[in-house]
Parts: sequence; C-alpha cells; structure tokens
Amino acid sequence: MSQLVAWKDSFAIDDGLIDADHKYLISLINDVLVAMRDGRDQDEIRRMIGRLRCFARLHFDREEILQSVAGFEERGFHARRHNELMIQLDEAFEILAEEEPADRRGRSERRRSRSARMKTLFYGWLHAHIVREDIKMRPLVPRMRGIWSRFPPLDGTGPDLARAAG
Ligand SMILES: [Fe+2]
Repeated sequence: MSQLVAWKDSFAIDDGLIDADHKYLISLINDVLVAMRDGRDQDEIRRMIGRLRCFARLHFDREEILQSVAGFEERGFHARRHNELMIQLDEAFEILAEEEPADRRGRSERRRSRSARMKTLFYGWLHAHIVREDIKMRPLVPRMRGIWSRFPPLDGTGPDLARAAG
C-alpha cells in the first residue's frame, strides 16, 4: 500500500475551484507524510501540519461562502461539520507528539506505525469531508461557477486578481 494519499475520481465535485482546493490539500497532506517517512525534524513537520490546518480552514470558509451564494439549504449543518473536521485534524499534532522509544529498532517501528496512523487519519478526514459532505454540493455547481473567478486557487497559481482589476 502506498504511503501517500492519492486523488480519486470519486472525489470530484465541480471540476473547478473546489476540486483544485482539494488537490492542494492532498498535496499538503502528502508533504507531511513524506516528511514523516523521511524522519524529518519534528518542528518542521509540526509547521507543515499547521500549514495544512490553515489551508483547510481557508478552504472551508471558501466553501461556506460558495454555499451561501448558491443558497445551499444544508449550509448550517455543513459549517458545523467543518468545525468538527478542524478538531479532528488536530489529532495529527497528537500523533506527532507521541514519545519515541530510545532504541533504534523501536524507533523505526514506531515511525512506521505513526506514519500509517497519520495516513489513516488524513484519509478518513478527506473521505469524511469530500465523499460524505462535499458531494452534496454537486447539484449547486452551475450556480457556484459565477463566483469562482473571485477565488484564486489556494496554491497561488491563479491569476493576479489585483493586477487584473487594475
Ligand atoms: Fe471541501
């Protein structure tokens, strides 16, 4: 089994902004998993999880704005689920903070088991977020398209809107 989380066709929501955000979140998740696999510094990994957390919150806020504009009836429930998902994501810090055994063999076994649990956490988080919740937004996509252009992609590859407006 791969150590990384892969994009799946079943994750597709809008073939647009939301999918691009989700792909970026997957890339941030994989940055954390690779850093753990490579035994990188704990502080560095903690910062990467913090970065993932920031972008997850930003993404949820963007979804909530899109839902509001599109008149999504379940948006109150969806917003509460977003808050729960943020708390769930904090478990990544707890997994990372677990004490390491002193001996080298114990350390490498612990590292493998911790990486596997981190992947399980992230995959479950993505699945709960995209497949169980965001999928409900699919019928709203035509209404959401009109405001996509106001949200550049999270990964910074979008147009420079300030320059375009000027
Ligand atoms: Fe989402």
